[in-house]
Amino acid sequence: MKLIDERNTRTRWFLKDRFGMFIHWGLYSIPARGEWVMTNEKMSKEKYKQYFDEFDPINYDPKSWAKAAKHAGMKYAVMTAKHHDGFCLFDSKLTDYKATNTKAKKDLIKEYVDAFRSEGLKIGFYYSIIDWHHDDFPHYGDKHHPMRDNEKYKDLDHDFEKYLEYMHGQVHELCTNYGKIDILWFDFSYDDMVGEKWRATELINMVRSLQPDVIIDNRLEASGENSGSILTNNPSFFAGDFASPEQIIPPEGIVDENGNTVPWEACITMNNHWGYSSTDKNFKSPKMIIRKLVECISKNGNLLLNVGPNAKGEIPSESINILDTIGKWMMQNSSSIYNCGKSCLQKPEWGYFTQNQNKLYAHIFEGSIGPLGIQGLNDKVKKIRLLSDGSELKLIKPWNTMDYNDYIFINFGTPEHLTYSLPDEIDTVVEFELLD
Ligand code: GLC
Repeated sequence: MKLIDERNTRTRWFLKDRFGMFIHWGLYSIPARGEWVMTNEKMSKEKYKQYFDEFDPINYDPKSWAKAAKHAGMKYAVMTAKHHDGFCLFDSKLTDYKATNTKAKKDLIKEYVDAFRSEGLKIGFYYSIIDWHHDDFPHYGDKHHPMRDNEKYKDLDHDFEKYLEYMHGQVHELCTNYGKIDILWFDFSYDDMVGEKWRATELINMVRSLQPDVIIDNRLEASGENSGSILTNNPSFFAGDFASPEQIIPPEGIVDENGNTVPWEACITMNNHWGYSSTDKNFKSPKMIIRKLVECISKNGNLLLNVGPNAKGEIPSESINILDTIGKWMMQNSSSIYNCGKSCLQKPEWGYFTQNQNKLYAHIFEGSIGPLGIQGLNDKVKKIRLLSDGSELKLIKPWNTMDYNDYIFINFGTPEHLTYSLPDEIDTVVEFELLD
């Protein structure tokens, strides 16, 4: 139980902040076919090194990234310090395979941390526990390694313990050299590469001794495929502080075996790739993303929305435009997001509810034929306001609602001329202040 109490205390800010930016950036932005390109195309280390030699992000300006995130209403960010390809964006003393040895010549993580902190955002590191560059990580026969079926690597001598020393050492560096870290996002476990195989207890103890308040994801024993023991009523020591559903919003939110809420964060791409893809223009609309953010909150979850900067260090313009539209909506409506969660009412047909104590927010996605009904609020409402501009909305009782006494009704037209149209076609938010 103590573990769960500690988790709930640690994640308090996280569950209030609700919305963050994921940043997948590394050498893979040059081939521009996503961050798994090395293994999808079974590239050897030697072949992949061309991108290391070439990497020169002349337009890297994390301050502009931080401003874009802040404007969008994001409160924290998580950036790839090392992805599966093993390339380190930070200045690790334990390897030469790092940004400082590329044409970038600097610790890109340090600059990210400084920029995001100075905009008042909390900072997180994504760190891949898988490593396709390190000699002591399993090659042949591993499920994901680029050389998984290359016979030449069949008898390669490797010492996994040595890899673990390296991996733990790098986590130690990340926990020591950048001040207070808010989130550690390990990725990921599979088959028998899980939990104590990573020396997870020791790793967590080390992290906690250096960063007592940091919150940690669940992937030392899980992945996007499943959540691990965080869902049980007896989570392991390294079960993590939050579940990390990937490219899915859990249909009913996430609760443990006892029905207690489990902190969770859905990570979602804007197009269909995490790392930059030059051809993937399949971006979700800002409207869809805003609505999905609302859906997460209505189910007690967070949204970590990804951007994949290109080889020059620029966030794609499509993503910038999406962030901008989200920002405009958030400017008017963010009090229905921050500090909010699942409401006391069932999901309505026309959208979602979120709630922060006595403030209930109706997120209306679909206009109604005449009066828009809300069940369960009779005699419970003190006042009603359109959240975007604070203007008063009145309860109406049109002639055709006689049969629906357990509903209250509103509309955005005049009492004489009810309308089906909504003030904001993305998401019109109505704030109900409830009586105590
Ligand atoms: C995965 C992928 C990865 C991505 C991550 C984001 O498990 O391996 O490339 O970074 O999920 O959640």
